[in-house]
Amino acid sequence: MSVPEFRIEPWAEGDLPLLHRLLGDPAMTEHLGGPESPEKIEERHARYLQGGMDAKMFKVVESASGESVGSVGYWERESHEGQVWETGWMVLPEHQGRGIATVATRQVIELCRAARKHQYLYAYPSVDNAPSNAICRKLGFEIVDVEEFEYPPGSGNILRCNDWRLDLSAD
Ligand SMILES: CC(C)(COP(=O)(O)OP(=O)(O)OC[C@H]1O[C@@H](n2cnc3c(N)ncnc32)[C@H](O)[C@@H]1OP(=O)(O)O)[C@@H](O)C(=O)NCCC(=O)NCCS
Repeated sequence: MSVPEFRIEPWAEGDLPLLHRLLGDPAMTEHLGGPESPEKIEERHARYLQGGMDAKMFKVVESASGESVGSVGYWERESHEGQVWETGWMVLPEHQGRGIATVATRQVIELCRAARKHQYLYAYPSVDNAPSNAICRKLGFEIVDVEEFEYPPGSGNILRCNDWRLDLSAD
């Protein structure tokens, strides 16, 4: 069996510096409402560690070097269709453009499919986020709507997002 070049591993205690790099950077968060404060990032790190049945966060690790290059995860969300999965991904700037987010998200899709809990997996990239929209298209998601979200909640910052949906029950 071939070993994937990039694997996902459960979020761990030592991953706080990775999260600061992913979410504390204005360029990385351009389509996500801007950088989070160090305090918010620490709170988020604690939530990622806690996980639970309905939320799983992973770091993405380059198999050859053992280096952490990004994050990916899935969690439950209430939608007009009832409970669905939602996913999201981030890759450090120096590793972007190598297909990493696509490979990592494919692994998340397999986990969601194997869980056999919800029929749909959603992703909500900003309409301006060309790489994320390309990833959804490549992985077989379809656009079912375009919505406006206030993100982060309470910020007054409005994001216009594509609603990409993947039917996990389809082959
Ligand atoms: C979005 C992000 C995770 C992509 O990571 P990545 O590992 O570079 O993505 P991949 O290499 O797997 O795929 C990117 C795809 O987008 C395409 N792409 C990149 N820039 C593009 C552009 N400007 N227009 C169209 N397609 C573009 C690439 O060509 C690639 O498709 P291909 O493999 O068919 O060539 C990364 O840019 C990132 O972390 N951005 C900041 C955080 C963020 O916005 N996260 C998403 C929230 S939904």
